[in-house]
Amino acid sequence: MKEKIKKLAKKKNAIILAHNYQPPEIQDIADLCGDSLELSIKATKTSARVIIFCGVHFMAETASILSPEKTVLLPRFAGCPMADMVKPEALVQKKKELKGIPVVTYVNSSAAVKAVSDICCTSANVIKVVDSIGSDEMLMTPDKNLAQYAQANTKKTIHLWDGYCPFHNTLTADDVQKAKKAHPDAIFIAHPECPPEVLNLADSIQSTSGMIQFAGASEQDSFILGTETGLLYPISKTYPGKKFYPASEKMYCTDMKKIGLDDVVRSLEDMTGEVKVPEEIRLNALGAVQKMIDLK
Ligand code: 13P
Ligand code: SF4
Repeated sequence: MKEKIKKLAKKKNAIILAHNYQPPEIQDIADLCGDSLELSIKATKTSARVIIFCGVHFMAETASILSPEKTVLLPRFAGCPMADMVKPEALVQKKKELKGIPVVTYVNSSAAVKAVSDICCTSANVIKVVDSIGSDEMLMTPDKNLAQYAQANTKKTIHLWDGYCPFHNTLTADDVQKAKKAHPDAIFIAHPECPPEVLNLADSIQSTSGMIQFAGASEQDSFILGTETGLLYPISKTYPGKKFYPASEKMYCTDMKKIGLDDVVRSLEDMTGEVKVPEEIRLNALGAVQKMIDLK
């Protein structure tokens, strides 16, 4: 199957991108793996005609926003429940109530929501984005935990949207204390989608790729990961001499595990699963995504 995918990708002039939470067999056949920010930037740099995006729908949409001339394929439909917690109509209404203050939208959102936002952010650049805004007040959507993390690191006022990741949001301080007790020498690294009580216990707060880099740069050799358990695969593969433990096994994103090798083959053969953002929405969303990328 892996050989077949390689041959098909070459024939179709396709590049395969995979998020760090994807199943191991998908990460193994991908040309590039990474976090949301890395993948969105990598999607703009490739000369391939087709992008096979192994992730969830908003990630494929972001690739389509940035590369409208390319065919972007999501091999099997998978959504992000947090992205579904904000709709464009509700955001427009909230903006009116807040008298038009700038809106920072996490990339885990639909293109239509990005289109009515001022700038996007990811878990890797949220503080930089907040500090770049020429206003002391802003609204952040959809993740309330990411917004509270940003609030703790800025003097600006951030209004919250009541969205959250159903997996990261389940991690409790008690879960972390139990994991720390089981692995007393391990460093605890958390994703900013975790609740504040969990982030308060973290030795470092990082995006998924940030966790991989942090573990590599650290002199410590064991880590508890406060994120979706899919990250255990790429991080252990990168640093086989170090030990990684999940903060909780319940952080398992079912949407991130939907794509299989057979889906990738079918998508390459039949060019199915295209994600294309309508041009009017795309142009407005591009403004918010590009502003974020230009900060790098
Ligand atoms: P990263 O951008 O840190 O990879 O996170 C994406 C995501 O969906 C986390 O749940
Ligand atoms: Fe969305 Fe959470 Fe899954 Fe990430 S882990 S894709 S935020 S539901």
